[in-house]
Amino acid sequence: MKNRVCLITGGASGLGKSIVEFLASKGCNIIINYNTSKNNALKLKEELEKEYKIKILPIKCDIANEIEVTKMVNEIIKEFGKIDYLVNNAAVCIDSLFADKNKENFIKTLEVNVVGTFLVTKLVGQIMYKNKFGSIVNISSTNGIDKYYPMSIDYDASKAAVNSLTHNFALEFAPYVRVNAIAPGWVKTENELKDLDLDYIKSEEEKIFIQRFAEKEEIAKVIYFLLSDDSSYINNQVIKVDGGTY
Ligand SMILES: NC(=O)c1ccc[n+]([C@@H]2O[C@H](COP(=O)([O-])OP(=O)(O)OC[C@H]3O[C@@H](n4cnc5c(N)ncnc54)[C@H](OP(=O)(O)O)[C@@H]3O)[C@@H](O)[C@H]2O)c1
Repeated sequence: MKNRVCLITGGASGLGKSIVEFLASKGCNIIINYNTSKNNALKLKEELEKEYKIKILPIKCDIANEIEVTKMVNEIIKEFGKIDYLVNNAAVCIDSLFADKNKENFIKTLEVNVVGTFLVTKLVGQIMYKNKFGSIVNISSTNGIDKYYPMSIDYDASKAAVNSLTHNFALEFAPYVRVNAIAPGWVKTENELKDLDLDYIKSEEEKIFIQRFAEKEEIAKVIYFLLSDDSSYINNQVIKVDGGTY
């Protein structure tokens, strides 16, 4: 991945941070898009540039804001002249009882997870297409396929939409750009674990063949594989990475 350039949305925290760290360890130059985690992004830049002799460019951008997305993409092109890889990782999940679900939160979820992913990928995919090279990985969820949680009905719908975006982008940017999605099950991220009690975690783990949640690095490795030329014939797929579930 040396001399390659990768944009990772929501790259300063949670799973995004692990993806940034893993790709950095492979020699990739990285744009860390963040919305609120500025300090994390700056710290990552300092640490990873020193350790791996790569270039890291942190950029603040709300991916649901079209003007900010355009500015971000222009800034990347000014700095690097190209974008080889894109990981659409940024998302929101507003958990609440089904009875408390409302239009405002539903729209906010769709705005970031679906419209935001669309805005970033439209511009970046067009650049990749012109450059005749690119690989894109969308982070979906098993919630968008066959896991149902009325507490996250809005999030689940957004991830089903991300799967649909994946197929449309794969068609639109063919034959030069591969577009795939991964659908993780439970992943041990700070945000995910903070509201779950131990009994609930245990009952969810029992539904997984491997009997545990994924480590973030296990997801990052699959993303790396899908971005890299090692997966050069994998395209237009939504791949579950959930340990096998009952
Ligand atoms: N954790 C799991 O169990 C799990 C399972 C399946 C799928 N996933 C998916 O994996 C991805 C990462 O999940 P996570 O657990 O790491 O989530 P998280 O800890 O909640 O992190 C969400 C990330 O999205 C960014 N973000 C949110 N709104 C944004 C906006 N408007 N513009 C730009 N960035 C924005 C945040 O950036 P800032 O911090 O800078 O605000 C943050 O980096 C998501 O797509 C999620 O749906 C997670």
